[in-house]
Amino acid sequence: MARLDVFIMDEAYRQSISEAMSVSGDGLVIVKFGGSVITNKDRLREFREDVCRRLAGELSAWNGDIVLVHGAGSFGHILARQHRLHEGFRDESQLKQVALVQRDVRELNVRVLEALIDSDIRAVSVPPAAAASFRDGSVTRFDPALFSKMMNLCLAPVTFGDVVPDESMRFSICSGDLMMQELARHLRPKAAIFCADVDGVFTSDPRQNADAELISELDREAVQRIKQSESTRADVTGSIKGKLERMLAIAENCEKCIILNGDVPGRLESALRDEEPLSTKVLPG
Ligand code: IPE
Repeated sequence: MARLDVFIMDEAYRQSISEAMSVSGDGLVIVKFGGSVITNKDRLREFREDVCRRLAGELSAWNGDIVLVHGAGSFGHILARQHRLHEGFRDESQLKQVALVQRDVRELNVRVLEALIDSDIRAVSVPPAAAASFRDGSVTRFDPALFSKMMNLCLAPVTFGDVVPDESMRFSICSGDLMMQELARHLRPKAAIFCADVDGVFTSDPRQNADAELISELDREAVQRIKQSESTRADVTGSIKGKLERMLAIAENCEKCIILNGDVPGRLESALRDEEPLSTKVLPG
């Protein structure tokens, strides 16, 4: 709330922000369930239901507003890569794939909603294109009002990585991380938490280098020093370094930005309780 004065925007916008921030309890947390945690990334449309349900249970420990973002995992990346959807429109044959990926990520979204609702989180779906416009794969307009209105009703908005209309590319891929960045910028949450399939950010790829070390506090300099292995293929939503740049930007807009291992039971809940689970804390600046 202290930072509201930095916004000089129109009245409706300001009101939507202040409404979103006037809730009681622990304040607002935005959390991403990475696609590699809630799906089996190598097998088309394989949902890791047990993991998602456990994470939903851990998330219910938060006594305040929640916005959840989830990745697409194998419900999005496999077809998107095969048909080069991240490059935008190339030929007609891609359009059916656009429809299939949209359908698949919605199927995943429904399964995530069910897991959350069963954990007593009143989850409602907000597809990215309902709140944002895109050009060249970047956001040109983001309206947080829909998220704010849902939260005013004590509902928990859930958005996700998706294939979206794009003003120059005709369509493009919006990652969950991009939504995290916009949400942090507009809603200024108390914390932004990324649930990944590794303990945090390492000095090099821990799956390939035994001497890779977990970075406990990550700043811009540390990002520059990270060695990205040749074989670490960028997925359709970009390279690891690009993702870390986004996290640095997110850290500017919240009190705490962390990446933790969502595969390890208890880490998310521990972070929500303001303890210090094994993780990487991303520092602003
Ligand atoms: C990807 O979103 C969206 C599509 C491929 C349609 P993310 O980049 O956020 O997904 P994960 O977390 O890497 O799976």
